[in-house]
Amino acid sequence: MSKNASDIAEHTASATQREFPHSDNVAVMPERRDLHFLPPGDRISDWHQAGPNVTQFMNALSLLFPAGERMFIDAVRSYRDEIPDPDLKKAATAFIGQEAMHSREHIEYNALMDAAGLPAAKLDQFTWRLLDWIKAKTPKSFPLAATIALEHYTALMGDMLLRYPEMMNGSQEDFERMWRWHALEEIEHKAVAYDVYEKCIGRGPRNWVERSAAMAAATALFWPIVASFYWQMSRADEKCRKAGVRGHLKLLNFALGKPGYIRRMVPEWLSYFQYSFHPWQQNNADLLAELDELVENAEAAYATHH
Ligand SMILES: [Fe+2]
Ligand SMILES: [Fe+2]
Repeated sequence: MSKNASDIAEHTASATQREFPHSDNVAVMPERRDLHFLPPGDRISDWHQAGPNVTQFMNALSLLFPAGERMFIDAVRSYRDEIPDPDLKKAATAFIGQEAMHSREHIEYNALMDAAGLPAAKLDQFTWRLLDWIKAKTPKSFPLAATIALEHYTALMGDMLLRYPEMMNGSQEDFERMWRWHALEEIEHKAVAYDVYEKCIGRGPRNWVERSAAMAAATALFWPIVASFYWQMSRADEKCRKAGVRGHLKLLNFALGKPGYIRRMVPEWLSYFQYSFHPWQQNNADLLAELDELVENAEAAYATHH
């Protein structure tokens, strides 16, 4: 059995709520959902309604998931036996299951890019090498600190995607549904790695320094990598080449101008550096209301594809 398949096989978690570790708030118990999306390969370079440049930007993000989610899974798993609280242990297992599903679906999605002549495999390999190097060169706690920093990013991006449906509306529906599923589950499990860190490593000034340093390092690496991946993807794509500078400006506007979905993340991103930060301080659990409907639609779409 492959490593991915064993992640997939191990989990069972039900949709219940668990105690918030250090406040009177309540957090969500994540649930692994074994969904398939099968987005159409012939739309890989123009599935986003905002055009080919935004499509390649989202594709570049997708290229980071297989290696990134492997790091998240390994980091949480390396502490799982030390988790004192049974609910958090169950949440950690569901976290591993969810990330394994995401990874499986993004591997399939990324393969569509290779089939279309985009340099996906090369960029994916770069990410694996970089993250393996980080894992080898840092103490055991660092990959988990990096995971909670990057999970803050995935939760913020998920929040944007769900809060502003116009960000994806009108895109090819299988791609849109897959991104919405990923966004929903990133919000659902956004505090799991964080809580594992606090329960197993600690919650004090030293931990604040480590998680803040990990966020600084993650940010310093993440955006240049995303920019470089986007650049390489857009250079390889005929529609982006045709769109020229105007295409890049369109993406800049999408990310940083108006609507500026990345720009809008900045205040919540900054909240990470507060000493008292916890992912559920931004209580956006209301965004999860569409989960059941999405699961139903995804299952129905998959059944018609077959
Ligand atoms: Fe994920
Ligand atoms: Fe995640």
